[in-house]
Order: sequence, then structure tokens, then C-alpha cells
Amino acid sequence: MSIGSTRILPSLRVTFCMAELRQLAGVELAAELERLASLLVACVDAGASIGFLRPLDLQSAQGFWRGVLQSEQRGERLVFGAYHDAKLCGSVQLVLAQMPNQPHRADISKLIVEPDMRRQGLARGMMELAEASALKLGRRLLTLDTATEDAAALYRSLGYQFSGRIPDYALNPDGVPEATEIYYKLL
Ligand SMILES: CC(C)(COP(=O)(O)OP(=O)(O)OC[C@H]1O[C@@H](n2cnc3c(N)ncnc32)[C@H](O)[C@@H]1OP(=O)(O)O)[C@@H](O)C(=O)NCCC(=O)NCCS
Repeated sequence: MSIGSTRILPSLRVTFCMAELRQLAGVELAAELERLASLLVACVDAGASIGFLRPLDLQSAQGFWRGVLQSEQRGERLVFGAYHDAKLCGSVQLVLAQMPNQPHRADISKLIVEPDMRRQGLARGMMELAEASALKLGRRLLTLDTATEDAAALYRSLGYQFSGRIPDYALNPDGVPEATEIYYKLL
């Protein structure tokens, strides 16, 4: 049964400099699938360790985002986008834990920013928006994992606590096993 998109109040929209950060829900997310797929391909090609091997072909990336859209429409996750000059150049997802005993928990997933748009605060802004949205939904415990030191530095600066390191957790984009680090934050 489709629950429908989890639309957060329109007030959760942030604008700074030339950037606008907002939730992408329903038709708005559907309209951005092509762009999100290109963004994912660009990030994986640039070495992002986010679940894919490189080279990632566009068709596979589109398939991934179609799955995200379906999950979003079932009310399982929220998707946020960062726009610069009206062009989508970043995204992050808040994946709502589905088990009945975890109504207070969500995962942060697939935080990506276009390679030539980095170090301008877009990821930090999207994380803050995702956290504000989580709080509105009563999701007070956020968990995530990362294999990337750049991202870990961001998470630590936002107050995420290091919980542990799992060796050989996944393959990096070139197929080499690498460790992942687990973080959590109580909002
Ligand atoms: C990680 C990523 C999302 C950061 O995006 P971003 O928009 O450049 O991040 P921000 O500009 O908001 O940076 C916020 C903070 O993160 C840390 N950070 C970000 N990139 C960093 C880097 N290359 N080296 C060291 N610290 C970094 C810094 O603390 C930075 O604050 P500062 O600029 O004031 O020093 C981006 O590099 C990316 O898309 N990487 C590939 C995908 C990926 O690994 N995602 C994480 C999956 S868990």
C-alpha cells in the first residue's frame, strides 16, 4: 500500500548565497531523476565510496534513483536537494527506520555534492536540513556509516559520535575492500 510522500513543512527550505536547499518530494523528485543520476555518476567517477563501482553507467544510476523515488513514495525516506543557480548539485536522504521498535531512528544516506561545487557549505546545509526534518518527524536518533575521511570530518563537526570501525566492510569504487566507520547523533 502506498503511504505517499512524506512532505515536510515548506518552511524547511534554506537559502544562502546563490544556493537553495529543500526537500524533493513526489513529482519534484521524479522530475529530477535524470539530473540526480548524472550527479551520482559524476561523484562515483570522482572516487566517491557510496555503494557503487566505477565506471558507473548512467542507466544503472537511473535505476538506483527510480528505486529511491518508489521508496520515497512509500513514505520510507525523505530526499533533499541543494541547488546553485537553479541547478541541482547535491543531495542527501533521510531513511526512516521501518521496524515497529525504532520509530525514533533514521539513517543518513547518499550525501553527495557535485565535485566542482564542494567546500561551499552545501553538504553541511543539507545535513542541517535533514536533521531539522528528522526532528519534526520525531526521529531523534540518526545513524550513518562512511568510508570517506572528508565526510567523517563533516559528520564529526556536526556532532556525530564515532561508534566503531568495521574492516573490509565494502569495496571502494575500484573494487578494493575498505573499512567503514559508524557514527550516530542524538538530536
Ligand atoms: C563529503 C561531501 C558530501 C562534502 O560536501 P561539501 O559540500 O564539499 O561539504 P561542505 O562544504 O559542507 O563542508 C563541510 C565540512 O566538511 C569537512 N570537509 C568537507 N570536505 C572536506 C575535505 N575535502 N577535506 C577535509 N574536510 C572536508 C570540513 O570540515 C568542512 O568544513 P569547512 O569547509 O568549514 O572546513 C563531498 O565531498 C562529496 O560529495 N564527496 C563524495 C561523496 C561522499 O563521500 N559522500 C559521503 C558519503 S558517507
